[in-house]
Amino acid sequence: MAPSPMNQRKPNEFDTGLRPGELDPDRPVPFDTPWGSFALYSVAGRVVAAQSFCPHMQGPLFQGTHSGSEITCPWHQWRFSLQDGRCTARDDGAPGDVPRLLFREVRVGPRGTLVLSAPAEPPETAG
Ligand code: FES
Repeated sequence: MAPSPMNQRKPNEFDTGLRPGELDPDRPVPFDTPWGSFALYSVAGRVVAAQSFCPHMQGPLFQGTHSGSEITCPWHQWRFSLQDGRCTARDDGAPGDVPRLLFREVRVGPRGTLVLSAPAEPPETAG
């Protein structure tokens, strides 16, 4: 008996069960994945998965406002690019390092649903 498409999924993927047309661009839905919580956004005709909680102080970023390719955190109004994860504005205006928003690649899987890929493994270090 041939394996079903479900059995052929790579173990390093997470199937959201959502089809692309079921995304509400104004209400990102957070998913708990093996790599943390991610929310799906529609940005310029493609689907992006970004971490649900803010890199600043873990505010509920998925509840923030989403405009174009930026999202604004509801706690301190820091803004993050949904293109590359950079912090584009912060309340203190100070320069300095801010952790980037984490992303996962999203593709349409064999069942027609949106599938997130696992993060790349960090390279092993010789020790
Ligand atoms: S927790 Fe998001 S801006 Fe502070």
